[in-house]
Amino acid sequence: MTTSIRDMQERGLGTTLRRDAWWVAPALTALVLGSFGLYATWAAWTGTHYEWGPYLSPFYSPLLQPSWWPLSPAFLILVFPLGFRLTCYYYRKAYYRAFFLDPVGCAVGEPRHAYRGETQFPFVLQNLHRFFMYAAVVFIFILSYDVYLATRWPVNGVLPAGTPVPGPTQFGIGIGTLVMAANVVLLTGYTFGCHSLRHLVGGGVDCFSCARGGQTRYRLWRGVSALNRNHMLWAWCSLFSVALTDVYIRLCAMGVIADFRIL
Ligand code: FES
Repeated sequence: MTTSIRDMQERGLGTTLRRDAWWVAPALTALVLGSFGLYATWAAWTGTHYEWGPYLSPFYSPLLQPSWWPLSPAFLILVFPLGFRLTCYYYRKAYYRAFFLDPVGCAVGEPRHAYRGETQFPFVLQNLHRFFMYAAVVFIFILSYDVYLATRWPVNGVLPAGTPVPGPTQFGIGIGTLVMAANVVLLTGYTFGCHSLRHLVGGGVDCFSCARGGQTRYRLWRGVSALNRNHMLWAWCSLFSVALTDVYIRLCAMGVIADFRIL
């Protein structure tokens, strides 16, 4: 009697005929995404050490501090980048496999046999991705402005840890400026390679040359498609860069490391 892949899937979670290390990718994803989630929650919760000199952590940008808000200012803005990542097409695949084990891998038994897609609550909320994408594009401009601010240094020299830039400023570049700029580059590659953005600029037309603004849309679609080809890579690199930027600024603010002025 032969055993089909379908049979193995129906026998339950983890049953498979595969002989490769199919479990490594979901296990690594769970480890890295879980670690990032824990760190980001802690960093946002503390409400401290998120700025040093002209640097501002991306977890706290834009920095909103209304008097009526009793919690960390990060919680006022994190819903947008968090929602963008949680509803991202790539991350959905990654965390469905890593945390829900559904499916944990191709041709591997699943915890349930009926597939309902993303048509019911709460997964139907994944359809909000395009709206989070609009917000994410705005955040690229906000974080770019933060990089500009990170080039404005006080005319009187080095800042003590945790002190905002006072008085007149002049142009300067520190290691932190470069870290923040690299973060914006990686976030831009991730955001502008979004599947929803690709559909927005290139979807809904059968013929670019027949559509209004077709040439422009075609060029935009080509650009988004080029980034989209490596969307997974951009997703991971930008995830690391956001965390590392926060860590760098946090360590400077705590006085654990000293920022180095290049210019
Ligand atoms: S699909 Fe990944 S950011 Fe939109």
